[in-house]
Amino acid sequence: MMRSVILDVDTGHDDAVAIMMAGRSLSIKLEAITVTAGNQTLDKTVRNTLNVCSALSINVPVYPGMSRPLLKDLQTAPLIHGESGLDGPVFTECAIKSEKEHAAVFLARKIMNKPSGEITIVTTGPLTNIAMAIRLEPSIVGRVRELVIMGGSIGQGNITPAAEFNTYADPEAASIVFSSGIPITMIPLDVTRTVSLTPDRLAHLSQVPGKAAELFTASMNFYSTACSKYIGESAAMHDPCCIAWIEDPALFTTVKKYVAIETLGVHTRGKTVVDMSGVSKKEPNAQVALTIDAERFWAVLEEALLRYHNLA
Ligand code: BDR
Ligand code: CA
Repeated sequence: MMRSVILDVDTGHDDAVAIMMAGRSLSIKLEAITVTAGNQTLDKTVRNTLNVCSALSINVPVYPGMSRPLLKDLQTAPLIHGESGLDGPVFTECAIKSEKEHAAVFLARKIMNKPSGEITIVTTGPLTNIAMAIRLEPSIVGRVRELVIMGGSIGQGNITPAAEFNTYADPEAASIVFSSGIPITMIPLDVTRTVSLTPDRLAHLSQVPGKAAELFTASMNFYSTACSKYIGESAAMHDPCCIAWIEDPALFTTVKKYVAIETLGVHTRGKTVVDMSGVSKKEPNAQVALTIDAERFWAVLEEALLRYHNLA
């Protein structure tokens, strides 16, 4: 059975790959894409989302959402994702337009109109749209099947020593979401960092035929160079890991833990504090991924790219 999924993105490079993987997935009925500011400003993350969907004929409504975090100022990631938020590929004219309805209003409406437990939400950006939807219509909390979040870390962060970019970008939103009661699967940085795109792997995937592989290659050439220049690491496939979770949860090991969001810390604001030892005695509020089988991840990604060629 295909799962009905709404993807909430801040389209930079790895979000774009997540969209590619979801767009022709055999396990996912992609209901809509909602967009937030994050990797770049909202106008740019929306444009990037529309460009990816248009280039790959992914026919799905795109809803622009929050243009800034709940309390913090917007802090984007131009070094890693470029001025456009998706530097690298050159897009021809975009054939589609975004929807008029606000992403948070759409999320609340859609979840309330669907049978309870039908919608899965996958987030690959700051959690602002989801927090807004919860505040707008608190009853959605009991109706979402699962919220799969790329965000946070058990150990080190990437935007500060403590915090990962998506939870750091809007800690108050992350706090609302993690304390909401929605069943959460958290795919943290500790896991996504282990799926790193080596030059050999990129060379191999660039040989896959079809438009998606072309777009992947153009995007990853920029992203890989930026990651090695600015963080001294191979490019990590953060956001696509969430789609791999939907495709095949057996790729992962997980534990149920209590996760709090640090919203006050001078050095730790935005950190996901994962109670690994159970010392807080609080009920777990998230299933936290610990490992992923990276080899099998790459096989899932390659199949996803190839599907655009075979179904062209
Ligand atoms: C996350 O930050 C963003 O730059 C990526 O798109 C990903 O969602 C990784 O920390
Ligand atoms: Ca992202």
